[in-house]
Amino acid sequence: MTATKNELQALLEERYGAAQQKPDNIIWTPQVEALLRHKSVRTFLPDPLPEGAIETMVAAAQSASNSSALNQWSLVAVTDAALKQRIADRVARSVPVDRIPWIEEAPALLLWVADLSRGADITKEAGKEPIVFDYLDSFLMSSIDAALAAQNAAVAAESAGLGIVYLGVMRNIAKEIAEMINLPPLSYVTFGMAVGRPDASRTSSIRPRPAQPMILHHNQYDQGRYRDYLKDYEEAWQAFRVRQNMRAKTWQGSVVESATSIDYMGGRENLRDTVMARGFKLK
Ligand SMILES: Cc1cc2nc3c(=O)[nH]c(=O)nc-3n(C[C@H](O)[C@H](O)[C@H](O)COP(=O)(O)O)c2cc1C
Repeated sequence: MTATKNELQALLEERYGAAQQKPDNIIWTPQVEALLRHKSVRTFLPDPLPEGAIETMVAAAQSASNSSALNQWSLVAVTDAALKQRIADRVARSVPVDRIPWIEEAPALLLWVADLSRGADITKEAGKEPIVFDYLDSFLMSSIDAALAAQNAAVAAESAGLGIVYLGVMRNIAKEIAEMINLPPLSYVTFGMAVGRPDASRTSSIRPRPAQPMILHHNQYDQGRYRDYLKDYEEAWQAFRVRQNMRAKTWQGSVVESATSIDYMGGRENLRDTVMARGFKLK
């Protein structure tokens, strides 16, 4: 491990912010340090991905646990600039901005697909009906596995000096994106991920997380305890926003906005219809 004790303490300060309590018993390993250094990257250099980057990310992704070893996810790596631009333009129309620069700037847009299509084919070729795929659990299973795979890929990319940002905004255009990349039935883009070389001159700092007692319970869920930790989290949150020159907004304000604005959904309010039209029955 190369980081000094002081550097690791400084990292913990960034992860939780100065005001909040933080654990003093972290078992530091190089991997833990790398995880705690994560930040989404929305500013990329124009460099192409290094040779082998996608294959490395996919090998890491495939090494994640996956439900019953069924491999119910796929990845569509969009590197064709014209297709990526068409996707960027379409998704930008679903949100109240003209452009989503990080999709345009990143050399690759990875589309993580929850994918029951292979399993359906294999089952039908065996002369049987994949009736289990009619259930919500199959939809969830493939979506969970896509997410776990993606996160392993993200960690691998970061360890190679690349940066990523997840793009849930792809679900705003779930129907259109499926058509644009020729997805078969019983599959959908769970989320996208822009990946590329971060432009260090424009990247953000680490976004603080709540103190652990807000989300960690031992043995029994302690409902309402989070309230004791809100004030300090808001302080850490504000300090981050000031550092990033972002407009003043509380974390609780963000929670309320996201929980109450259908506009904020940007089309995801239609997701159930789209995935059902794609063959998921969600029973
Ligand atoms: C499933 C998922 C979807 C996300 N979708 C978007 C998105 O559409 N656009 C975006 O800018 N960031 C997106 N993010 C990134 C989050 O905003 C980011 O992870 C969060 O603010 C915490 O910041 P950090 O990743 O820098 O720690 C997404 C993250 C996740 C996990």
